Amino acid sequence: MFHLLISILWFFYFSQAISARDTITPIQPLAYNETLVSADGRFSLGFFTPGKSKNQYIGLWYNKMADKTPVWVANRKNPITSSTGLLSISSSTGELLIIDQNSTVVWSSNNTVTNMFNPVAQLLNSGNLVIKDANSSDDKFAWQGFDYPTDTLLEGMKMGVDFVTRLNRTLTAWTSESDPSPSQYYAMLDIHGDPQLVLCSGSKKVYRAGPWNGLRYSAIPATLTNYRFNFSFINNKKEISYYFTTIPSVLSKLAVDQSGELQRSLSVEGSGLWNIIWYAPMDQCDYMPQCGPFATCNQNNSPICDCIQGFKPKSPDQRIYREAANGCVRKTGLDCKNGTDSFLPIPNLKLPDTSNATVDTSLCLDECKVKCLSNCSCTAYALADVRNGGSGCIIWTNELTDLKVLANYAGGQELYVRLAAADLGQSPTTTRKSKKWIYILVIILPFFMLILAYIGSLLWRRKRRRMRAVEEINTLFHDRSNQGFVSGNDLELSRGSDHELPLLDLKTVAFATDNFSVANKLGEGGFGPVFKGKLGNGQEIAVKRLAKTSAQGMVEFKNEVLLIAKLQHRNLVRLLSCCIEGEERILIYEYMPNKSLDYFLFEKSKDQVLDWQTRFKIIIGIARGILYLHQDSRLRIIHRDLKASNILLDEEMNPKISDFGMARIFCADEAVGNTMKVVGTFGYMSPEYAMDGIFSQKSDVFSFGVLVLEIITGKKNRGVYLAAPHTNLLDHVWTLWKEGVSLQLVDESMGSYYSMNEVMRCIKVGLLCVQNHPEDRPFMSSVLLMLSGDNSLLPNPKEPGFAMRSGVTYQMESSSSKANPSSSNDMSVTLMEAR
Ligand SMILES: *[C@@H]1O[C@H](CO)[C@@H](O)[C@H](O)[C@H]1NC(C)=O
Ligand SMILES: *[C@@H]1O[C@H](CO)[C@@H](O)[C@H](O)[C@H]1NC(C)=O
Ligand SMILES: *[C@@H]1O[C@H](CO)[C@@H](O)[C@H](O)[C@H]1NC(C)=O
Ligand SMILES: *[C@@H]1O[C@H](CO)[C@@H](O)[C@H](O)[C@H]1NC(C)=O
Ligand SMILES: *[C@@H]1O[C@H](CO)[C@@H](O)[C@H](O)[C@H]1NC(C)=O
Ligand SMILES: *[C@@H]1O[C@H](CO)[C@@H](O)[C@H](O)[C@H]1NC(C)=O
Ligand SMILES: *[C@@H]1O[C@H](CO)[C@@H](O)[C@H](O)[C@H]1NC(C)=O
Ligand SMILES: *[C@@H]1O[C@H](CO)[C@@H](O)[C@H](O)[C@H]1NC(C)=O
Ligand SMILES: *[C@@H]1O[C@H](CO)[C@@H](O)[C@H](O)[C@H]1NC(C)=O
Repeated sequence: MFHLLISILWFFYFSQAISARDTITPIQPLAYNETLVSADGRFSLGFFTPGKSKNQYIGLWYNKMADKTPVWVANRKNPITSSTGLLSISSSTGELLIIDQNSTVVWSSNNTVTNMFNPVAQLLNSGNLVIKDANSSDDKFAWQGFDYPTDTLLEGMKMGVDFVTRLNRTLTAWTSESDPSPSQYYAMLDIHGDPQLVLCSGSKKVYRAGPWNGLRYSAIPATLTNYRFNFSFINNKKEISYYFTTIPSVLSKLAVDQSGELQRSLSVEGSGLWNIIWYAPMDQCDYMPQCGPFATCNQNNSPICDCIQGFKPKSPDQRIYREAANGCVRKTGLDCKNGTDSFLPIPNLKLPDTSNATVDTSLCLDECKVKCLSNCSCTAYALADVRNGGSGCIIWTNELTDLKVLANYAGGQELYVRLAAADLGQSPTTTRKSKKWIYILVIILPFFMLILAYIGSLLWRRKRRRMRAVEEINTLFHDRSNQGFVSGNDLELSRGSDHELPLLDLKTVAFATDNFSVANKLGEGGFGPVFKGKLGNGQEIAVKRLAKTSAQGMVEFKNEVLLIAKLQHRNLVRLLSCCIEGEERILIYEYMPNKSLDYFLFEKSKDQVLDWQTRFKIIIGIARGILYLHQDSRLRIIHRDLKASNILLDEEMNPKISDFGMARIFCADEAVGNTMKVVGTFGYMSPEYAMDGIFSQKSDVFSFGVLVLEIITGKKNRGVYLAAPHTNLLDHVWTLWKEGVSLQLVDESMGSYYSMNEVMRCIKVGLLCVQNHPEDRPFMSSVLLMLSGDNSLLPNPKEPGFAMRSGVTYQMESSSSKANPSSSNDMSVTLMEAR
């Protein structure tokens, strides 16, 4: 018995020693078909061949994650081009070498070694590949991989500048999936002024996370710095650097991806899946420079740029929505000598660019103010460290640029802007103004009431007419519209550049589509048929020929299309051009050969099954796309027809929303949130929209919720659910949710390989989005936060709005108020009779 135990122990000892070593010695190099595994099994290191490339690289990846993309690459610029290679360590110099088939050294660690008797390279549990002396037990390394980050910052890895070793550690994106060599996108610590984390494209700063405020970078939401992380920032004579650690059950990484996005991912250990919990640039205001000097950028305002109080647009003749985009100038010059200047506190800000600012950590806020007042070139000041009531002083002596107003939860900082006394003392005028307003109100109120009453009666009549519209729509939309296998490419916002949308003439379009031949028809949508086409230069396009029902004039139509074409986002299909001739109204999109989401979700015979990670990516992508539509400063598009067939997928299964702005193009004169013509698709329409034609961002949120639930379950909402013939998907989800068994909902084709936590969160978010009352549903900005945040932060959903419950009842009120007979209940009866 005892012997058996011993031999088992020996067996384990050997099998581990043989199959998973973590060390390379001069006599035991790493062959091209071997891997090193860290002692705790978290990381692997070995040769890999990325994507479609034939080259070989030495890379490090998370051993237990589904995503095996390397997070560190040794020889990103020096691949092995032969079929085999070797990673070895030189016994004489202690250098780590990558050697190809012909024994040529393609890469060397170049460490200038001192006296190592027995050099070895070891993969540590942290993922750090180090060169050290096997005989020494301390952690002095002759070289370490962590000093040369690739595109990913791992836990414990430092980013930033070391003045002693002269290291400058940046994160630089891969060029493509098949090529790990550095692209133009990188993140670095800019050490000028008050050090900041910045994301660059070539020599251009694209995004600024702002200076370190003691807890986090100025623009990083406070919600990210929760119990799971310790973020650390070192700023002294020896180094300026940043690193993070996490609690043991959580993995995290910060990376610059190939599209130039900075992404923070998180994984609960054991789930095997990453979850992007924060990324930047996230919205327009994140891009530099969005607004000029002395202007604030607020994503929720229209226009997004606005001058700080006491400043006026520098070039007031600009088009209204870009008025402050070129920056602002003082209304009244400063009066430094007389000492009458004062400060305006602006709350909730990402602090302005600090690359020319100076910091004095010894001052408190009051001393900071005095210092700023005493220096005539000082334009603003702020706290340098917000911990423990605040300390330190940042002083700006130049223009204030890249000011972003953050959401309340994000925990921005207060900035004190220097103004002339004349521009500050506006409080008396405002009170006078508000008094005037009260007078005006008192006079106008009676008229206002009259008008309200009139509108009320109009609305009532409209409601009844809409009932009839709903019936029509019901029959009209029963054929599944499958239009638009088109896609935009991954464009960034083309900020500032206002290139005109090229117009195509009808002849060209007819030629490209073979005279709108049936063979080229891709599908038929609610607004007309879609054709595939090919331009003279070989570019493939998707051509949407709008039905001739729009009463819109040519100029209005063109204006609308021009506006829509300016909406560019990686999760939106790109509108390339349009064609207007006589009666013809044609939209030209970029064509993409891939399919739409409904094909992957609902056509089960297909061999292409979506795994959970892809589904989750799709959910997030759709959410980002809608958020962009809803919050775009100029247009604030409500899509009104979000559904699986309007979500197209590119080669990498990134979702792209199509058909946005159609409602706008078709009924541009109806700017109010109430329309005679209900466009939309049964199963996705919110109750208030289907019944009353009242649309808002919240009706899109409803459709999004339905989409999320469809993506999780793989079942269509409109389809009658087999197990219980008289309920629909929402009903079914709600029932199982109440019984606490909602995991039964998960599409069986995914198997059991999914993150329970994520699925549960998505179901909950889906249910929150389809709640009956619009005001209960979250805005898309909250939806995105919920999707990436903690489950416990979510409220409990109320009962969904079963707008389209198949032929049974129409539920206007929540179940608790059913006893209350109201006009809306009458309406539901009408609907039932009509069916
Ligand atoms: C690696 O390949 C060599 C031949 O090229 C072979 O002898 C060896 O057994 C392989 N090792 C592993 C771990 O597969
Ligand atoms: C290896 O050497 C052979 C013969 O000298 C040469 O043809 C081949 O291109 C070399 N391969 C590499 C990867 O250098
Ligand atoms: C090592 O030094 C050689 C020669 O100076 C250089 O070509 C190579 O790029 C260096 N390798 C690294 C990883 O810096
Ligand atoms: C280093 O350790 C090896 C065994 O691991 C031993 O043979 C050698 O003598 C040691 N050298 C020194 C200088 O301690
Ligand atoms: C660090 O490297 C980046 C990217 O090459 C560069 O822009 C930056 O100026 C460097 N910082 C220092 C302190 O050298
Ligand atoms: C952060 O650091 C503190 C103090 O060093 C420690 O008590 C805490 O456990 C750390 N938290 C994490 C998430 O690493
Ligand atoms: C400073 O004060 C003096 C006297 O009150 C006034 O004449 C002068 O215009 C002021 N200077 C400025 C720059 O406003
Ligand atoms: C910093 O100062 C330099 C030189 O005066 C100037 O060119 C640059 O625009 C300033 N940067 C910012 C962010 O104000
Ligand atoms: C004002 O502050 C700037 C930046 O700290 C400094 O360069 C300049 O010398 C100061 N001017 C005066 C008059 O103190």
